[in-house]
Amino acid sequence: MLAPLAAFSQPAATMKVESGSGTVISRHIYGQFAEHLGRCIYDGFWIDPKLPVPRQGRIRMDIVNALRKIRIPNLRWPGGCFADEYHWRDGIGTPKNRAKMVNTNWGGVVEDNSFGTHEFLELCKLLNCEPYISGNVGSGTPEEMSKWVEYLNFDGQSPMANLRKQNGHPEPYKVSFWGVGNESWGCGGNMTAQFYSDQYRRFATFAKDYPNAKLKKIAAGASDFDYNWTETMMKNVGRRMWGLSLHYYTVPTGNWNKKGSATNFSEEEYFNTMERCLRMEELVTKHSAIMDRYDPERKVALVVDEWGIWTDVEPGTNPGFLYQQNSMRDALIAASTLNIFNNHAERVKMANLAQTVNVLQSLILTRGAKMLLTPTYHVFDLFKHHHDGKLLPVRLSAPDYRLNGKSIPSLNASASVDKDGVVHVTLVNLDPSREIILASDFGAGSRAFTAGKILSSESVTDVNTFEKPETVIVREFNAVAKKGNGYEVKVPAHAVVMLTFR
Ligand code: AHR
Repeated sequence: MLAPLAAFSQPAATMKVESGSGTVISRHIYGQFAEHLGRCIYDGFWIDPKLPVPRQGRIRMDIVNALRKIRIPNLRWPGGCFADEYHWRDGIGTPKNRAKMVNTNWGGVVEDNSFGTHEFLELCKLLNCEPYISGNVGSGTPEEMSKWVEYLNFDGQSPMANLRKQNGHPEPYKVSFWGVGNESWGCGGNMTAQFYSDQYRRFATFAKDYPNAKLKKIAAGASDFDYNWTETMMKNVGRRMWGLSLHYYTVPTGNWNKKGSATNFSEEEYFNTMERCLRMEELVTKHSAIMDRYDPERKVALVVDEWGIWTDVEPGTNPGFLYQQNSMRDALIAASTLNIFNNHAERVKMANLAQTVNVLQSLILTRGAKMLLTPTYHVFDLFKHHHDGKLLPVRLSAPDYRLNGKSIPSLNASASVDKDGVVHVTLVNLDPSREIILASDFGAGSRAFTAGKILSSESVTDVNTFEKPETVIVREFNAVAKKGNGYEVKVPAHAVVMLTFR
């Protein structure tokens, strides 16, 4: 029996964790994104050998080791918008002979192509994650894409397989996740949905499956609320794709010309940001409902391969580099979004936060030899226990967080059980000032609460800096008490909590 709401003087909530239907929360929901943009690749993952940090070749190993700890499952590359102006043959062979180009999308800087196909796949090997490559549809050709796939995946005698061997990699890379264009409605070619759906069919025809290297083709999907795009793709492409993407960014002010500061914001702006973030629930629900009509068996994945908060850049930094700080607010966005994805795991089988290092909602920021883990990184650390767990649906009844006559749910949650029978529950309290008392059975049955962790700090504007990198970090959490057949948890204001039951 759950305690009645009236029993509490503080805001109270109840939660019922149900037994699952077998839906698996794919670890690929926890994917990352690394574009040739600002300081994500260059001066991020890929460094000047003179920088005094551990490295393998030019790959920065403190970053690799931090990402291995949170077990990132896949890395999307080379874009983003960059993907549709990237010609892969510029990025293979002897580095000093590689063509230089201008990165027209991101700051007009020189791209020297020193980080190309082999370097990316070496990085994925070090990270122990799967590569997710976005092919060029916008300014490329079916032939160019076809040859890239042959170069990567064919194990035999062919012009491209031989070239790969000449370049030092006899074995095929067996890349599986394959993006057919990016944002084809915008920077990827300004196409209509109908035109792109035909282009997808054409390009995808020549992106071949080679023996033991079957592609999971992911079509460029809708932006935000563009349901017509999803409808058109499902109607004209349907099961010819493994996944259909969706991009949605949380812009604090809702105004792309003045998005709002990453660190300096009022409670009103905080509220509006969280309200926008939670729209992911509506987006996933409505895009999925369209997909359900054409694919009731849910074979085609919804792949949210760009998401996160997008603010104004840090003052004094290159506006084309999209470098932004990361606060406790970002952590609450990440955790709430991941809870939404978990709860829709029957359709959302993959997602990619934008972007891993030094760009947008980063996991990691660097300055010279220094590196810090952002609050968002710590969320991925807490949530890694959901990877490939079986979803346990939650029924939540919680008070609203209200401001200026508007309201949003204060609490969100998801739960899973892993292969050893351990239950993990992640809770987010978005209310910036009120603790919530939650009564729940936690679906634990005879299981007992064993451990709790919390990510919180004094203010939602708190950040980790190079001088103080441990302001927002994970700590032990014990405000869990046995109550009747269940437990009572005091979830502090603006906090992310992870509970374990065995
Ligand atoms: O992540 C930054 C950019 O946002 C990507 O290049 C593009 O796909 C999107 O518009």
